[in-house]
Amino acid sequence: MTGQDHIGRVFGNRVMEIRFRTPSSEPLQVGEMLVIEDESSDTKYLVRTMDIEHGADMEAPDWMEREAGLMLHKDSAQEKVVIDNLLDRLYKVGVSTPLGYIENKVFRKTKSIPTHFSRVRRTSADDYDFLKQYLGDVEVGRLRSGDRVLDIPVGFSGRAMPYHIGIFATTGMGKSNLMKDLALSCMKLRHYGFLIFDPHGEYYDGGEVGKKGLKHVAFKDGLEVFSSRKLDGPYNSLRISAMEIEIDDLANLYEFTQPQLECLQAAQWKYGNRWLLDLNEKEVSVISQDLQGRFHEGSINVIKRRLDNIFRFELVTTDEKFSITSNILNCLQNGKVVLIDTSNMFEAEELLVSTVLTRAIFEKNKSLYADKEKFDKLPPLLIAMEEAQRVLSQAKGTIFSQIAREGRKFKVGLCAISQQPKLINEEILSQFNTLFILGLADKRDRDILRNSAKQDISMLDNEIQMLMPGETLIASPFTPFAVPAKIHLFEDYVEAQNLLSAEADAAKLKKASTDKKFF
Ligand SMILES: Nc1ncnc2c1ncn2[C@@H]1O[C@H](COP(=O)(O)OP(=O)(O)O)[C@@H](O)[C@H]1O
Ligand SMILES: [Mg+2]
Repeated sequence: MTGQDHIGRVFGNRVMEIRFRTPSSEPLQVGEMLVIEDESSDTKYLVRTMDIEHGADMEAPDWMEREAGLMLHKDSAQEKVVIDNLLDRLYKVGVSTPLGYIENKVFRKTKSIPTHFSRVRRTSADDYDFLKQYLGDVEVGRLRSGDRVLDIPVGFSGRAMPYHIGIFATTGMGKSNLMKDLALSCMKLRHYGFLIFDPHGEYYDGGEVGKKGLKHVAFKDGLEVFSSRKLDGPYNSLRISAMEIEIDDLANLYEFTQPQLECLQAAQWKYGNRWLLDLNEKEVSVISQDLQGRFHEGSINVIKRRLDNIFRFELVTTDEKFSITSNILNCLQNGKVVLIDTSNMFEAEELLVSTVLTRAIFEKNKSLYADKEKFDKLPPLLIAMEEAQRVLSQAKGTIFSQIAREGRKFKVGLCAISQQPKLINEEILSQFNTLFILGLADKRDRDILRNSAKQDISMLDNEIQMLMPGETLIASPFTPFAVPAKIHLFEDYVEAQNLLSAEADAAKLKKASTDKKFF
């Protein structure tokens, strides 16, 4: 151990709070992970700094306050303030919480305290050897200690996908960037099916000048894109068939009264799987007659007006064979990333397409469940939904909340992205086993996550408030503690790792050579 690594000595101890003294010049940070070496055994305690205080070796407890007062007087008299002579007496107190202890390379929860005056030091890469087995195969960033980034890749296990993933952060804190990293990892691995709905049109080409998207990276075989707007690059057009739309899907988009719902059910019963088309095409009086006059023509009219809206969307086709649903199911089962660009759609269309596809995936997996051999071969699937609070605010009622409750059994997980986790139903939120907590400005949002996290992160509130864009805590039951990470900045990562596609590389070279001409 070098002298530089050794930064302090323990002086105060409780099992859940260890205090140590460190020189006032030491750039200690909240969130920093440190090792405390027990002098009497081979035990190392791994701790995380929660808070930092000032201390001084003076008898009077209010000495610092008085000294600051004297300095203020001198300031106002424009006298020179010298503090060099005081430096020897000043120090900092690190307040830390134990993550666990390591003994014979095994990590355990702390049940004891280090001996008096144990040394405190910065961590080195081998201190984290025990952690590597927990960090998963879907890489999204590197381990972080305070704002220092360590050269240890961090991710999560794809097997955790059906246990649902929540990505929560205030706007601008790095949710979309994290999604691109996640997609890139899945495209590379080809072990998981990952469906992404992109209402902002930012994942395919980066969305704005200077940003990169999935079209710029290698591993093209791992990506399939569907869009109803024109994209610069290969994509399929986005169509679903009217025959795939169910009453529940409509109920997601519009509020129906009980008689209107009953009318929809009666029509479905009467017309079979063409019910939506028939309701749309037939005259009100004909429908009324077909349904034996049980429903007001007014109700039927309301329903028809709403269907008008749906058929006005170019998204819905009346011809079953143009539907993309089975193509998407195949791609996912082949371990691909499927990107659905919904950025030119109205919100109702976007919700309709995500609901219909999500239900198709869930039902497909559910139907395969009985065939054990086939089911065992299915890769875990993950469905990412932006602004997830829109479809998860109630415990029941949408296919998304159903998946949150039942999806794990059928290998279907949700990846909910939201800047307002407080608007998600608490029971649903508690189903999310892996939480990516990025910077969250709102206290209520932080409180909600603290309660639903599968690890005790109550002592980390200071840290969460201080997170910069791309800095995260990953809380899950699959790691021994909430893992602090710095998410890769997608653009930098693909360059540094040489993951650009051949075309993107060629375009870059071309740009570099034309740029040169200007000099
Ligand atoms: N992992 C990261 N590392 C560095 N900067 C980041 C990172 N993630 C995001 N940023 C910065 O923050 C900006 C907003 O990120 P974005 O992912 O669009 O946030 P959100 O989707 O949460 O609104 C990015 O343009 C980038 O400049
Ligand atoms: Mg975003």
